[in-house]
Order: sequence, then C-alpha cells, then structure tokens
Amino acid sequence: MKKIKSIVTGGAGFIGSNLVDKLVKKGHTVIVIDNFISGKKSNLSHHSRKNVKIVKLDISKDKNLSKYFRGVNYVFHLAGLAEIIPSIKDPAKYFINNTLGTLNILEAAKKVKIKKFIYVASSSCYGKTKKNSN
Ligand SMILES: NC(=O)c1ccc[n+]([C@@H]2O[C@H](COP(=O)([O-])OP(=O)(O)OC[C@H]3O[C@@H](n4cnc5c(N)ncnc54)[C@H](O)[C@@H]3O)[C@@H](O)[C@H]2O)c1
Repeated sequence: MKKIKSIVTGGAGFIGSNLVDKLVKKGHTVIVIDNFISGKKSNLSHHSRKNVKIVKLDISKDKNLSKYFRGVNYVFHLAGLAEIIPSIKDPAKYFINNTLGTLNILEAAKKVKIKKFIYVASSSCYGKTKKNSN
C-alpha cells in the first residue's frame, strides 16, 4: 500500500515535533522543513531517516521550495516565530519570517497542486476575550 506523505514546516518545534510523532504513528512518511531557529534536532532524534526526512532551510529566504512538495498529500504549516511581545517590538522581522515564509510555502504548494494544506495559526490574532466565560 502506498504510504501517505506529509510535510511539516516547523516540525522540529514544540507543536510540530508532537505532530510528526502522531503522523509517523499513523503510517505517514514526513518531510520536516525547519531552520532550527527555535526547534531542536533532539525533538526528532527518535525517528528513523526512513520515516522522517529533515530539510534545513529558511522558508522566508528559499523561493525554490516546490521540489520538496512533489508527491506530498498533506502540508502542515507551523514554521514561524511565535512570541507576541517581540513581534510588536520588531514587526518587520516577524513580517519577513512569518508572512513571507507563509507566502513561499503557499506558492510552492500551489505550484504542485497540493490538495490539503493545514495552517496552524495562533489564537492571539483574535485578541483577548472581553468577558470571562464562567
Ligand atoms: N505554543 C502554543 O501555545 C501555540 C498555540 C497556538 C498556535 N501556535 C502556533 O503554532 C506554531 C508553532 O508553535 P510552537 O509553540 O511549536 O513554536 P516553536 O518555536 O517551538 O516552533 C516553531 C518552529 O518553526 C521553526 N521556524 C521558525 N521560523 C522558520 C523559518 N523561517 N524557516 C523554517 N523554520 C522556521 C522553528 O525553528 C521551530 O522549529 C506557531 O506558528 C505558533 O504561533 C502555538
């Protein structure tokens, strides 16, 4: 039976590496795209190279990403700088890393007609709740 192939950007990070664990358990082969700015190789060291291929690159700088996307069934996009206060202090840095990075990933996915693209956003974009739900 043909294996399901997934890409996890930010797969060496906190959420991404847990997602990679789950996908491998479900029988996926996974390509992790990460520049290790906050992610760690040790988060993935328990996986064999057969199941998890690691590609080290910066998604905001590399415009030739589509070569990794051929034959891929699912793209899970988690790569990004996640801190809120630093992003307010230095919005340009976060714009380049997160917005441009996401655009490059979307363009690559579009080029090879990826059908399933899952974007892991932050709930922070909705702001704080106005009243307590209790
Ligand atoms: N942790 C949370 O509570 C939470 C909740 C909701 C959403 N999120 C979102 O989920 C995503 C992952 O969060 P996390 O807590 O796992 O963060 P994390 O910092 O542990 O993981 C982010 C990963 O992205 C990689 N990365 C960052 N910029 C990159 C770039 N330009 N190119 C390639 N790789 C890059 C980092 O090296 C890291 O491995 C973020 O977008 C975050 O906003 C997090």
